[in-house]
This record gives sequence, structure tokens and C-alpha cells, in this order.
Amino acid sequence: MHEPHLFVGEARPLIEYHAFPAENVLTHLLGSGWSKSQDEIELRALDGYLARVPVAKLKRYRAYFAVARADGSAFTVDNPAQQETNLPLAPYYLIWDNVNSPELIREGATFWPYQVSTVSLRAPALHSLMPEGMPPQYRPQAELAQKYCLSCHLVNGYGGDKMPINLADRVKRLSESAFLTWVLDPTAVDAYTAMPAMAPMLPQAERERIARELYDYFLQLPVHD
Ligand code: HEC
Repeated sequence: MHEPHLFVGEARPLIEYHAFPAENVLTHLLGSGWSKSQDEIELRALDGYLARVPVAKLKRYRAYFAVARADGSAFTVDNPAQQETNLPLAPYYLIWDNVNSPELIREGATFWPYQVSTVSLRAPALHSLMPEGMPPQYRPQAELAQKYCLSCHLVNGYGGDKMPINLADRVKRLSESAFLTWVLDPTAVDAYTAMPAMAPMLPQAERERIARELYDYFLQLPVHD
């Protein structure tokens, strides 16, 4: 695979992993019904990271659970976007066959959780993402927040624990321009921050559009504990 944690500039390093097809692993863990569901596969990591991968995505592209590097070297990766080196990937690392897939390359490391320790099938967390009082047209923005932010942060009690702040509350204290700068280029604000820039492989105009939609969503989102 092209290892998206190592994408810097035009570099797309190839790394080979020992891995099992995700389809087989998921059927083993969850039974065969998962592939017929419209729900999401939740992957929780030892470091508090949470990924929610739509079942539809797992059916469209080939994913694998990696357990080692093919060449026998340490099962670790550097993650320059979060200023980390030699990160342990075990027990499981979800990887995608992105060789020949420009769409997956553009997604970068978004759905590549490492240190995965639990896997479950879940309905979208709408009680937190779309609570009462939230106009229904915000559903697509809620999905963007899920995809790009809630792997590490919370909204109203739901999300990842890597940096467990409630974005429904925190974002309301930021101006739009401060929010856009932080999300699009966090190292411009703090050179040593562990927050990665959002979707760095997408075209800049699209990143800006997504960031504006997220700001609008977090401003509207009612705050609950
Ligand atoms: C891979 C984990 C990760 C992801 C994904 C992530 N963040 Fe963060 N975020 C962090 C970390 C770590 C910090 C603390 C940064 C620091 O202290 O340098 C942080 C801090 C923040 C803060 C607090 C800034 C402040 O000083 O008040 C906001 C707001 C924020 N993130 C918003 C977002 C939004 C919006 C998204 C989605 C576009 C997002 N984050 C995605 C890890 C992440």
C-alpha cells in the first residue's frame, strides 16, 4: 500500500504488510449480517482514536487488517502530521488497497486507524450528532464532523478520546477565521501541535469548503453533556 501517514509533498512511499481481508475478519467477528447493514463499523484504538467506517465504503474498496510488516521489520510507522515517530500499530491496523486508487489517495490517512482493539457494528450516533433542535439539513455536515474530527474529539459525549473536548462548545468560542486557520493549518498556530491538518490531500478549495461547513455545523449544534 501507499502508506498515507508518510505522505509528504509528492512522496507516496510503498510499504507491504501482512494482512487479512477486512471482509473475512468482520464476518468472523460480527457474523455475515454486517455487509447487508447500512450502518457503520466502529473501530476503537488503544490510544483513544475512534474510526467509524461506513459499511458501504468497505464494500466499495478493499480493506485489510494488518498485523505485521511483510519484511519482518518493526510493526510501527512515523506520523509526521502528529509529530510522532515509531508509533506501534499492533494489535491491528486497518489499511486500504490504494495502489491505483486516486480517490483513496486523496482521503490520505482518514480511515486508517492503528492500534485497533475493538470492532463493532453501530448505527450513526445521531442523538449526539443531530440532537433535538438541530435542523435536519445539517446531516451531511454531521457526517463530515464524524469523518474528520470525531476520531479524536467529542460532540456531546460521543467520539474519540484522544483529545476529549466537546467541539459543540469549544468551536463556539472561536471566530470563523481562527477556526479555519486552526483546522486547515494547525502548525501555523502552534508549530508543535499534535493536531493534524484536516484532509491534507484534498484540493485547497475543497478543504476550505469543508472547514466552513464544519464551522457552521458546530455553531448550530446545541451543547449537551
Ligand atoms: C488525530 C487527532 C485529531 C483530529 C482528527 C482532530 N483533532 Fe483537533 N486537536 C487534536 C489535538 C491533539 C489537539 C490539542 C492540540 C494542542 O494542544 O496542540 C486538538 C485541539 C483542537 C481544538 C482546540 C484548539 C484550542 O486551542 O482551543 C479544536 C477547536 C479542534 N482541535 C478542532 C478540531 C476539528 C474541528 C477537527 C476536524 C476538522 C479536529 N480538531 C480534528 C487532535 C485532533
